Amino acid sequence: MKLPDFFDADRALVEASLETLLPAEGVIPASIHRAMRYSVFAGGKRIRPILCVEAARMFAADVGGAVSVGCAIEFIHTYSLIHDDLPALDNDDLRRGKPTNHKVFGDAIAILAGDALLTLAFRTLAEAPMEPERRVRVITEIGAAAGTVNGMVGGQVADIEAEKKPADAATLEYIHRSKTAALIRGSIVSGAIAGGATDQDIERLRRFGENIGWAFQVVDDILDVSESSAALGKTAGKDHAQQKVTYPALYGIHKSKEIAAELESNALKELDRYGKQAEPLRQLASFLVARRS
Ligand code: IPE
Ligand code: IPE
Ligand code: MG
Ligand code: MG
Ligand code: MG
Repeated sequence: MKLPDFFDADRALVEASLETLLPAEGVIPASIHRAMRYSVFAGGKRIRPILCVEAARMFAADVGGAVSVGCAIEFIHTYSLIHDDLPALDNDDLRRGKPTNHKVFGDAIAILAGDALLTLAFRTLAEAPMEPERRVRVITEIGAAAGTVNGMVGGQVADIEAEKKPADAATLEYIHRSKTAALIRGSIVSGAIAGGATDQDIERLRRFGENIGWAFQVVDDILDVSESSAALGKTAGKDHAQQKVTYPALYGIHKSKEIAAELESNALKELDRYGKQAEPLRQLASFLVARRS
């Protein structure tokens, strides 16, 4: 299942911009630039940049700033995947349908490629074409979303520390909201900021992003159980093998699907007042929950 064709234009903008922002393969030291490009162009869905651009489009016709912000978030997301796959974390050898970064380039370059993508992300944000005040708000938002306090790194720490232990609902919720929902929410909120949304609109989109981002990780857990490695482009059945705390492990598949649907419905409520203006975000939300990879 792919995103509706409607979003192809956003994806093309993002791909072109990623290409320009990344140093060319031949730039010294070539190994790190090859490694960064290998993972960025391995075939991700580009969900976060597309959410960012569509959130901006609700409030502005010019989405140039949001494209840059979306690319910065895709760099952070790709770094998080490279590090997530390292032997010290999930120890995976398949990602986006290809051997993982460390399998091709070795652990040292994979760690450094992650570091480099995170650094490039903040440089990209600093140079994003938008009003300075909005840019600073976006940098603050994404810095928090990717960080340790209810952010991506905090969630990854809790995920690793919860392995092989009895699962509890509060820990599971913390992990999913932090490791995954935070950056998805950050993509939507920063798109809204880039587009010049009011504070009230931003807060509604924050709640939309939090719920849909949380649903996204519940679905990721379900797909790990229900789809093949070939369909996912990453190793299926990994969560059970590593005794991860997941929604299917704690609630079973059926209840997990109900939870994802309820989170989607909570997310969609936040868009009610926007009518046609929010139709692309509604379509994205349904895709994120109904996807098969
Ligand atoms: C995978 O994210 C990691 C999670 C946070 C669940 P995506 O499913 O967006 O991965 P790509 O970018 O399409 O590879
Ligand atoms: C990872 O969660 C979320 C990140 C912040 C990278 P998972 O470990 O479930 O992601 P996959 O299944 O390997 O993509
Ligand atoms: Mg993980
Ligand atoms: Mg993983
Ligand atoms: Mg997973």
